[in-house]
Order: sequence, then C-alpha cells, then structure tokens
Amino acid sequence: MTAPIRKAVFPVAGLGTRFLPATKAMPKEMLTVVDRPLIQYAVDEAREAGIEHLIFVTGRNKAVIEDHFDVQYELEATLSGRGKQEALALLAKDLPKPGSTSFTRQQVPLGLGHAVWCARELVGNEPFAVLLPDMVMKGEPGCLKQMVEVYKETGGNILAVGECDPAETYQYGIVGIGAEIDGSAFRINAMVEKPKPEVAPSNLYINGRYILQPQIFDLLSKQEKGAGNEIQLTDAMLRLMDRQYFYGCRFAGDTYDCGNKVGFLTANVAFALDRPDIAGEFLPALKAMVEGK
Ligand code: G1P
Repeated sequence: MTAPIRKAVFPVAGLGTRFLPATKAMPKEMLTVVDRPLIQYAVDEAREAGIEHLIFVTGRNKAVIEDHFDVQYELEATLSGRGKQEALALLAKDLPKPGSTSFTRQQVPLGLGHAVWCARELVGNEPFAVLLPDMVMKGEPGCLKQMVEVYKETGGNILAVGECDPAETYQYGIVGIGAEIDGSAFRINAMVEKPKPEVAPSNLYINGRYILQPQIFDLLSKQEKGAGNEIQLTDAMLRLMDRQYFYGCRFAGDTYDCGNKVGFLTANVAFALDRPDIAGEFLPALKAMVEGK
C-alpha cells in the first residue's frame, strides 16, 4: 500500500514579468482562462485527484489569491439578495473546506526548488504533489489524477511528461526514458534542467506536475544554485534518483503553457470552445475572424 497523496503545493510567488502590465498589481495566477483564474484550474485538478490540503507558496502582492479561496461575504449577501442562485452555487462549489488551505511566503525568489522547500513544514513527512499553475491541463481524468493512478501501482516519485519540439528542450526539465512500466508510464533514468537540444536525453519534458517523497526536502535544504542561477527542483530530484525510483507518466491530454502569451491565448480559445454556454456564439465569430485573415 502506498501512502495517499493528501497535500499539494502550489508555487505562486513568481513575478509574472512576461505579462506586464497586466501583472503589475495583480498576481499572474489570477489571469483568467475564460472566466476562471489560472490558479483555480490547478486547484480543481488537485481536488479531483483527492487532494485534501492546498498549500500555497506565495510572495508579496499575492494576498488576493488568499482572498480568492475564502468566503466573500459582501458579494454573497448581494447575490443572495438578488436571488442569483446559480452564481452562489458556483462560488460554493469552488470554496475549499474550512482549514484546508495554508499559505506561506517565499521571501526571496531563489527558484522553484527553493519555493517547494518553503513548504516543508506544512507538508511534513509524507508524499505530496506539486502543481505549477502556469501549466494548464485539459484532460479527463485530469493530469494529477492520472499520476495518482500510476503512483498507486508503483509508489516512488512521479513526474508527468509531454512531448516537446526537440528544438525547445532548453525551455524545460527533460527526462531520460528507462524501462517501460506500461503504455503510459516508464522509469526515468536521467533528468536535466533546460538542456540544449544536442545534450537533451529525449524530447519528453516535465510538464509541471510532480508527486514527490518528503526526502526531497533534505536535498533541497543543502542545495546549490543550478540552471539560470536558481535553486532547481530538477537538480534535487536528480540527486534523490540515487536513492529512490522516479517514474514518468505520459499525460493523456492537452497542456497549455500559460507562462507565455501564445500558450495563454490558445488555452482561452480551447477552453472557450469546450464550453456549451460560449462555444455556440464564439466558434462562428472565431471562424469569421480567421477566415478574414
Ligand atoms: C519549471 C521546471 C521545469 C519544468 C517547467 C514546466 O521551469 O524547472 O523543469 O519543465 O517548470 O513549466 P520554469 O518554467 O519555472 O522555468
């Protein structure tokens, strides 16, 4: 029996400089894909996978994320007074259970590895998930749920992966492919953060979803800076690989890198076309616009 994955860490301290001026006074995690903030997609995915405790590693100017996951009395009273039951039900459905969220701050932006390390006291001595909210996943079941299914069979550490253009390996953490477990999972035998294409072990990139054993924290606490002069999660995982197994889970679904503008815009179109209340009007408008080009 593997220990259940009950806690998820959401690193949300990044400055979002690629989306200025939108992110000058607003966290990038609150940018919306259709009408839900990026962070909400990651939280929905975690809850679907059975996560009970949501841990946010925030920074200055991120307080609105905490408000987003709280009751908004004034709004709810107004909606209730106006008989807006549908909107109220939507807010109630998204609200995490009382006491199931925690917030801690990454005081200095030293990298993803450092952000995850900041959650060590809140995670404690149990396996946990990490979800990077920039990466928005569309899949049924969701990405983390697919990973949990693999984890129940294999234990250890699981990374979700997708295929990238071999010329773009320098943008991601890249894994090496070892023995196949089944069609969807394999043993990881190498890991490199942002390698040049000529030294990349494959074109399978880490898509921003992790299931990790708590021993990663010991390694993160001793860690030196790596690629980009940041404390890298990938480097600590590589060291943990000396002692524990890592498995790649090929995510069956679509990944949108909302950390860049084209990925973000594409996600908006993809999710809008999936919405029965929007697609009917949106698709003809989109077609007309594209055909006019
Ligand atoms: C981080 C990770 C990288 C991963 C990527 C996914 O990089 O370090 O391994 O592939 O997220 O988005 P970042 O995007 O923070 O540079």
